[in-house]
Amino acid sequence: MNTPILKNTIAEIFANGKGILAMDESTPTCKKRFEAAGIPQTSEMYRQYRELLVTTSGLNESIGGAILFDETIRQQTDAGEPMAKALMKAGIIPGIKVDMGAKPLPEFPTELVTEGLDGLRERLAEYKTMGARFAKWRAVITIGEGIPTDACIKANVHALARYAGLCQEADIVPIVEPEVLMDGNHSMQQCYNVTEKVLKALFSELYQFKIDLEGIILKPNMVVAGKGCLIQNSVDEVAEATVNCLRSAVPASVPAIAFLSGGQSPKVAAEHLNTINKNFKNRLPWIVAFSFARAIQQPALDAWKGEQSNVKEAQEILSSRAKLAAAARRGEYSSSMEE
Ligand code: 13P
Repeated sequence: MNTPILKNTIAEIFANGKGILAMDESTPTCKKRFEAAGIPQTSEMYRQYRELLVTTSGLNESIGGAILFDETIRQQTDAGEPMAKALMKAGIIPGIKVDMGAKPLPEFPTELVTEGLDGLRERLAEYKTMGARFAKWRAVITIGEGIPTDACIKANVHALARYAGLCQEADIVPIVEPEVLMDGNHSMQQCYNVTEKVLKALFSELYQFKIDLEGIILKPNMVVAGKGCLIQNSVDEVAEATVNCLRSAVPASVPAIAFLSGGQSPKVAAEHLNTINKNFKNRLPWIVAFSFARAIQQPALDAWKGEQSNVKEAQEILSSRAKLAAAARRGEYSSSMEE
């Protein structure tokens, strides 16, 4: 492991108030999003859409790194350029999703464990030759009756630590993502309790597996009530709960936190991130940024509709959503900027 290489990659990704664009939807997720938008669900359409994203001009003003999916990193733009290369040329560092998805945890009917450790060392070596300098592994934690269980938390943080070790061995920065889902009718306090417990278990495991915390990016959820909860908290309440939860569980040696959006609307995700950075600036020992997929991409996907004639408009929308997220990262966002 070469710590300076890892630290340098992280510094480059987040330089000048930038964040990360997650564009690593797996084939099943892509299929679902395209189906909902009425776009044919073919590998060629996924390629065209990813080309739209990576060729958006000026994207590197707000995006320092973009996470690709295995299929995408093997695809090329119309000009015959590999997607990772197109990103590099645009001044954006390519990253790669390396987990193989969240699968049912045997004997725990409603819980999931993320798979993909077998052969990971070899896959990382290959992705590195393709230009990937950082990676992502997403663990999924569900809140519900009697869950998450300790077994589910343990299995998922174990896999995250093993993954992080393999990444660091290859001088690839691991994005460590333990996502506590917004699905359910749990309160914000329940989300706080579960998120805190998962993060504490995660950092204990990372310590045991000798992960260099200065060479990781943490990608957590914000602390919010479940989508089905009757009480939805104010932006200020969410920001405060999120900051308190992270301060209680995330060591100051972690250089950067980049939130997932998790199903929040683009505007709400930006408001939360902005308030965290604006109101709690002096309480954040880390860079607090974004690694959004839906909260940056969704309006662009809806505008594109799979039509070549809509590419320019979709790219403008993408670029503006990325700029708003970057403004929120700096605590300079306001909802008046939405117009
Ligand atoms: P969302 O921002 O849509 O939650 O996606 C982030 C992500 O990459 C989940 O792994």
